[in-house]
Amino acid sequence: MPVASTVEPDALLAELVATPEGRADPYPRYAALRAVAPVHRSAFGFWALSRYDDCQQLLRHPGVGKDFSGAMNSMGLSDAQRTVQDRFRNDRSNMLVTDPPDHTRLRGLVSRAFTPRTVESLRPRIVAIVDDLLDGFGAGEVDVVDALAFPLPITVIGDMLGVPAEDRRALRPLVRAVTAVLELAITPDALAAADVADAQLGAYFSELAAERRARPQDDMLTRLIEAEDKGDQLTEGELISTVILLFAAGFETTTHLIGNGVLALLRNPDQLARLRADRSLVRPAVEELLRYDSPVQLAVRTAYEDISIGETSIPAGSVVLALLGAANHDPARFHDPGRLDVGRDEGPPMSFGGGIHFCLGAALARLEGQIVLDRLLDRFATMELAGGPATYRDSLTLRGLTSLPVRFAA
Ligand code: HEM
Repeated sequence: MPVASTVEPDALLAELVATPEGRADPYPRYAALRAVAPVHRSAFGFWALSRYDDCQQLLRHPGVGKDFSGAMNSMGLSDAQRTVQDRFRNDRSNMLVTDPPDHTRLRGLVSRAFTPRTVESLRPRIVAIVDDLLDGFGAGEVDVVDALAFPLPITVIGDMLGVPAEDRRALRPLVRAVTAVLELAITPDALAAADVADAQLGAYFSELAAERRARPQDDMLTRLIEAEDKGDQLTEGELISTVILLFAAGFETTTHLIGNGVLALLRNPDQLARLRADRSLVRPAVEELLRYDSPVQLAVRTAYEDISIGETSIPAGSVVLALLGAANHDPARFHDPGRLDVGRDEGPPMSFGGGIHFCLGAALARLEGQIVLDRLLDRFATMELAGGPATYRDSLTLRGLTSLPVRFAA
């Protein structure tokens, strides 16, 4: 296993955040950081937590929230970066960037569509989509990202929201460009591209909302418009922002769960064989794949008051990172965390966050992951990495593959 090149906490964080090598291989750096400074006040203006219990404590803390406007002044960002990030995080009003009471209101408007029970009712439809995609796998090499991991979740969330099928593929690069603002180190070019993409997504969804207003359908967009029309439930800006959030969060992360998960299994053929021999392990296997290589590696909060994390006091106004990928590899929580164990039974990973912002789509992502594993095993007697490289996109907050060439045999 590769090791981190330093044990100096700020140098480790700088590698993680600001170098392609660090972003590509974060786990040894998390381990080194956890060993020397698990609750670390960095020279970059933010704190970083790398233990499971500390991350949990932060995300559940009533004294923290999502308002970064004041705190960002202390983070050494350029004016342009601050302006754009401020606007994304604070002017746009969706549940991910708001605190109660707005958060409670905005989440409450859509939460019923994502309960485990409602999501379970989607099972036959998701199985049909997966089967349809697997029917398209030709002989020879298949890029699992392009042929399965991307089209499945975008079809599911696109159907739920009411985004026309023919528009979805063109929206993908816009969503990817916008998610760059979730990264801690972002280039001016990426920032400018995020800004343009955000405006294009806003224009697209405003037009779609106008169409639905004229011709209502049985979809979430129509239901949100009805809530808007009732008056005080949400504004037009909140409506558009919420739909963009659900669409983006609904596929970008689940694409990475499927890609990272299939890669992990192919690199650990003993675990793949174990899963094939005992299908009751599909459920724990998805939890383990989420833990082993999480699609979301960190969550950010601002302390609104002085807070204590473990033994350490963190002053009001601090920006604090919960390094979810590090928490998932904390040996105090998971025995031998670097080992993939599809039968692991040590409690849930931190991959969906925690507290009031706990991932709204967790049940949906889990179901999609479970169905993918089941159907892949049903349909293919063997699957193995094809020669080409499995490449990760160069980002830390969202961790996932750009391609995954695999050879399947029926
Ligand atoms: C494996 C797939 C997924 C992962 C790893 C994931 C991860 C996360 C994480 C870590 C958060 C918390 C962010 C924070 O605390 O700042 C979050 C929030 C959220 N996720 Fe997911 N997510 C996934 C799939 C989905 C899906 C399928 C949807 C469906 C629409 C979704 C919708 C959301 C929403 C709306 C929030 C904001 C919740 C709130 O702020 O109250 N996610 N997700």
